[in-house]
Amino acid sequence: MHVPPRPSVRELHGLPLRVFVVDSAPELAALLARELVDVVRGELAANRDPVLGLATGRTPLALYAEFARLVAEERLDLSRLTSFHLDEYLGLPRDHPASFRARMREVLYRRIGHPDERAKFPVECDRTEGLDGACADYERAIVESGGIAWQLLGIGLNGHVAFNEPGATADSRTRVVQLSESTRRANRPDFGPGEEVPRRAVTVGIATIRDARRLRLVALGRSKARIVRELLHSLVSSAIPATLLREHSGAELWCDAAAAGELHRD
Ligand code: PGA
Repeated sequence: MHVPPRPSVRELHGLPLRVFVVDSAPELAALLARELVDVVRGELAANRDPVLGLATGRTPLALYAEFARLVAEERLDLSRLTSFHLDEYLGLPRDHPASFRARMREVLYRRIGHPDERAKFPVECDRTEGLDGACADYERAIVESGGIAWQLLGIGLNGHVAFNEPGATADSRTRVVQLSESTRRANRPDFGPGEEVPRRAVTVGIATIRDARRLRLVALGRSKARIVRELLHSLVSSAIPATLLREHSGAELWCDAAAAGELHRD
């Protein structure tokens, strides 16, 4: 990917969350990929194993491509890296290409040589039994890793973060959830014509996300402009789960110009 030499980024003030607007999505991806490299280096310099929280979906794709490029260019040592993921579908055959494990392999891990055993998901997508135990084990594994240093998050059109759909509470932890119709529709393109989009998933909770030291919410494109405005201008409430992250002291929202396009109207 071409990295522009002078990305134009501006911080918006007077909002209930630190907000950065970057002119274009590639520039935004380059800035956050650089931050991610710096986080990994910082953890290694402090003699800690780097522990990252990563997101699936379309939003982080350019960021992952740029991160993989920087890892190769700078020969970044990822041998001590562990990654935790926000969620996984239930009800798909193992290694289905739309499963989040398969997607992460495809879009990042095969490029950086990150092995499956260090890429943690709350469950495998074909799991049918022992789900409550798997959820509790996942929470424990995050704590035992030392906690997540840097958590990347997309935002759903309905304000979901991970698969915490409207109604999710601030104290929620990893659990089985039903997906909303809006989410299933948004993810439809990842499935073949005759295939059903899963109705259930396992997601980390809002409290799990809030345990991470730094949160990076990212919104790209015009379709996210409405929810970005609502995230910043609505009351904190379970009706828009992303608002429950606003009070986290290490949280930042990063938008491209299109996703920030409705902010000036308020
Ligand atoms: P997207 O998904 O990155 O594909 O827009 C974000 C989300 O639904 O959390």
